[in-house]
Amino acid sequence: MTKKTVLTGITTTGTPHIGNYLGAIKPAIEASENPNFNSYFFLADFHALIKCQEPERVARSTREIAATWLALGLDTDKATFYRQTDIPEITELTWILTCQTSKGLMNRAHAYKASVDANRDAGKEDLDDGVTMGLFSYPILMAADILMFNADIIPVGKDQVQHIEMARDIAGRFNHLFEPLFTLPQAQVDEETQLIPGLDGRKMSKSYNNTIPLFCSADELRKLINQIVTDTREPGEPKDPDNTLMHLYRCFGNETESAAMRQRFLEGIAWGDAKKELFEFMDAKLSEPRARYNELMNDLGEVEAILHKGAERAREYSAPFLDRVRHAVGIRSLTDNGPVQQQSAPKEKEKSAEELARAEEGRRRAILMQIKPLLDQVEQADDKAAAARALVAEKTAEVEKLKKKARQKAQNELELLTEELSALL
Ligand code: TRP
Repeated sequence: MTKKTVLTGITTTGTPHIGNYLGAIKPAIEASENPNFNSYFFLADFHALIKCQEPERVARSTREIAATWLALGLDTDKATFYRQTDIPEITELTWILTCQTSKGLMNRAHAYKASVDANRDAGKEDLDDGVTMGLFSYPILMAADILMFNADIIPVGKDQVQHIEMARDIAGRFNHLFEPLFTLPQAQVDEETQLIPGLDGRKMSKSYNNTIPLFCSADELRKLINQIVTDTREPGEPKDPDNTLMHLYRCFGNETESAAMRQRFLEGIAWGDAKKELFEFMDAKLSEPRARYNELMNDLGEVEAILHKGAERAREYSAPFLDRVRHAVGIRSLTDNGPVQQQSAPKEKEKSAEELARAEEGRRRAILMQIKPLLDQVEQADDKAAAARALVAEKTAEVEKLKKKARQKAQNELELLTEELSALL
């Protein structure tokens, strides 16, 4: 079967902290090592503009997040890693989708509703006070990020689940109105990793101002760990192992290490000693990627080049796919009267075997999207084998009737259909 595509974006407004690392970055990098998935990870810098009007901060955060993912070992041969604004197709798709999205759907978005509620509570007459069109249409840009690559699985925090549902709605509507080009994406929320405690014991979050930056210096790390709130139990008094220090320790340690530390709390380790232990433990785990991070931050040209390569690879999929979307809505060359446009083969530089394989995978996925309704028909038939044979016979006849140009496309579809249905034929 074809690989599933996992895609997620990171808004470039902040400095990556331990909570981001454990909750999002680490699981994403691990998933990208799984050969059963295609991974797309990107810096959502257009999203940053929605909530942040500080250019220096957006630019700094973009550098920091890019260097962080690379320092943590993201293998950019395995995952496609790019910056949203390097993919012009995403903005183009955003407009096309904007024209198909009902305003009513956007009225229901949590982020927008929260602003309206705050205005109402403040007794303001204009309930849309301070709301930009960017904030209002935010879910459409996000839908374009996702639908552009026909992503199946979107790992996100709970607060983003509604946006994935909106992307599904938008995709479904487009598929119904025009052509079934888009995959309906699904949110993936990892409940367990959401609960990384911050310095005050509440969830680690920028908005609580309780974060530990992932790659702060060792001194800073020690200082922050010393600020973690504990109770007033004296040295020697047994301590509840369900505490913030232990929780952080467990996030970095394996079972044996965690069990040993837990035992020490029960035996009454002093809070000061426990903080020292936690610092040393975390520092040992972070010092290597921190050194790599500092190297990358001193060689941003290299990081920029990696992002460019990622964008190039992403566009191998997005550019031809957007052509189909444009065609579907009627944005076509004047001389193009046919029902389906033949894609002109892009002029390509010499490509590595891996790049070719990737391009081929992209091509296959695009065709599969096209024939998906046919495969579904077979899947729903009472006699699947008969339906498969009839379908392939019908497609073969169609190919034979067609003229050269359209024929290649139908031929490609036929080949994949035969392949997908081979067990039934
Ligand atoms: N809006 C997301 C957030 O703030 C970031 C994001 C932008 C995203 N585009 C995306 C996440 C597409 C997943 C898929 O967390």
